[in-house]
Amino acid sequence: MSLSPARARYLSAIRAMLPSLLLAACKDPAQPPTNADGTTSTATAPEKPRGYPPMSNMSPCPNGAFCVAESSNALSDASAPAPYARCAAAATHPDDAKDAGFKPDRLVSFNGDNTADARKKDATACCYTWLTPCAGGRAFRDATGAPSVAPTVERADWSAAIGALTTTPLRDDERAALAAHWTREATFEHASIASFAQLTLDLLSVGAPPDLLEATQQATLDEIEHARIAFAVAAAYGARPVGPAALAVMPGASRTLVSLARSTFIDACVGESVASAALADASRRAADPVLASLLAAMSSDEERHAELAWRIVAWALRTGGAEVARALDEAKEEIVTEIVSLEQDVAIPWRREVELRATVLREIVLPCTVAMLGSSDYLTAGRQTVSMQASLPSH
Ligand SMILES: [Fe+2]
Ligand SMILES: [Fe+2]
Repeated sequence: MSLSPARARYLSAIRAMLPSLLLAACKDPAQPPTNADGTTSTATAPEKPRGYPPMSNMSPCPNGAFCVAESSNALSDASAPAPYARCAAAATHPDDAKDAGFKPDRLVSFNGDNTADARKKDATACCYTWLTPCAGGRAFRDATGAPSVAPTVERADWSAAIGALTTTPLRDDERAALAAHWTREATFEHASIASFAQLTLDLLSVGAPPDLLEATQQATLDEIEHARIAFAVAAAYGARPVGPAALAVMPGASRTLVSLARSTFIDACVGESVASAALADASRRAADPVLASLLAAMSSDEERHAELAWRIVAWALRTGGAEVARALDEAKEEIVTEIVSLEQDVAIPWRREVELRATVLREIVLPCTVAMLGSSDYLTAGRQTVSMQASLPSH
């Protein structure tokens, strides 16, 4: 899979927002940023601001933890490791029964540390962590910063007219798995509608130019269509209509250039770049031509959304200067940490998704971020030159 065209597109978007700067060509991520004359930047990095939640706490995918009593909610006959062998290795989430539509697709695993803590109060507690894997897309975060999606219910009005899918050769369990997968994807697309609505307010609050607002509004419409397509695909595999219930809307606002740049970087430069690549990958592997075509179109939309994100972040960098650059530099370091972590994580059932995310981070997000921050070094240098000239005595 070649990610070069997407990388070139994002670099071009960054360049458009930083027009007076010589944007370095995409560098080997292992190499440090270079200056305009090609020399390696040796400037001492300013002290990084503290107080941002680390990116590991800002997963694009819903996740959490829960505890149940020893004998309840067992999902498998296998036992948790000693000394907690009376706990099941996996358990159903207590909220699963609340979902009136398709069963949420949570990946649950036993957590010994949480169990040890909980047993200080309840000697029968068994604790688990869970994650709903997602391809990416623009996450909608609640007031705590956690990604939020709506539960699903049986309803027909969110299904787009997508044409007939080939479902007959599939076994019942395969159709059920596909219905769960597409319901999960649909809830992320649906949440992206709220995320772009929030972005509109955030952009207005920091005085963004109209072209960014116009593109954000168009992206909101794209996400409505993506959600309708994904719910329709879920209904086709599940043989009954499905759509979103009420979404809990307690948005976490980004009201400064720094927080806007950081949230856009994490949720969109990363999230929508990954989503676009994942959809393109799924399109290439889809045997059904109708589904392949829908996925390709959605991938193209997500790539445009990622391009918009790079424009927004580059604009925030141009407008906010060093403070924004420091926040992005910190996010860049977290990308490096995540790449190392993803590449070491082999004992996972979602290997394809993890490998794809690692590849996008390594081949798109990191080099584009390095190039953009290299430009910001020019920005700082340029300002210093101007101020030094201004302070020179005139003759
Ligand atoms: Fe989308
Ligand atoms: Fe998107």
